[in-house]
Amino acid sequence: MRLDGRHILVTGAARGLGAEIARSLAAAGASLILADIAEDEGRATAEALGATFLPVDLGDPASIEALAVTLSDITGGALHGLVNNGAIATGIGGIGFEDVEIETFDLVQRVNVRGTWLMTRAAAPLLRASGSGRVVNMASDTALWGAPNLISYVASKGAVMAMTRSLARELGPDRIGVTAVAPGILTTESTDYVPEARHRLYAEGRAVPGPQGPEEITDVVAFLLSEGALTLTGQVLPVNNGFVFS
Ligand SMILES: NC(=O)c1ccc[n+]([C@@H]2O[C@H](COP(=O)([O-])OP(=O)(O)OC[C@H]3O[C@@H](n4cnc5c(N)ncnc54)[C@H](O)[C@@H]3O)[C@@H](O)[C@H]2O)c1
Repeated sequence: MRLDGRHILVTGAARGLGAEIARSLAAAGASLILADIAEDEGRATAEALGATFLPVDLGDPASIEALAVTLSDITGGALHGLVNNGAIATGIGGIGFEDVEIETFDLVQRVNVRGTWLMTRAAAPLLRASGSGRVVNMASDTALWGAPNLISYVASKGAVMAMTRSLARELGPDRIGVTAVAPGILTTESTDYVPEARHRLYAEGRAVPGPQGPEEITDVVAFLLSEGALTLTGQVLPVNNGFVFS
């Protein structure tokens, strides 16, 4: 899959899955812009890939708007791909729904749900201008099978799936494709809270048994960002080695 000449923004790309996606897109020849709230880590990741780094707080509408202005300058006003990967994914698992703080629940929705909407809204004019814009939203299969002790996150990822379908209809007339990827529980730092025994259960429950690493998601994301992926618009794709089927 080649993405030469395509300007692609990946949010939450400082580390974890976002950084892995960025590595893969850079190898495919994309012209990459990485954005994250973690500035030092994000700059280091971008520098290693020859990408541009832009700071953003997805929980802050003004920060997203400022990012879009700079993005327009960098890309000459045309963005081919947006990967809405940035999210609060670390530090919120393993807590029963009765014990989650209301502030935490609200913050997770603000960043993961509202941030995805506002980032897509800010990028929409640039995606239209490219003539073949693609949006890939990062969902999670935890919202499909109902992972316990993760209520704020699961709620946010369910909303991301629903928004994907709605955005696909609104942006389809402009030939912009919107899809979501729903990975399984990966071997990233954000899932360190999951006990080893449970990781083993997930691994054994997959049609293709074994742990799943972030590098197993990237080819699908690259394809969804390509010109040929428009017919998949609106789809939520579980990319989880067959743990749960859509
Ligand atoms: N790791 C998994 O098992 C898994 C499974 C399914 C889906 N996902 C999704 O993949 C994405 C990446 O997850 P990860 O495991 O790499 O987690 P992570 O916590 O390592 O990475 C999340 C990234 O988002 C950034 N971020 C957080 N809040 C932000 C904000 N307000 N503004 C801008 N950036 C912000 C972080 O700095 C970080 O770089 C998330 O959307 C997550 O929900 C992860």
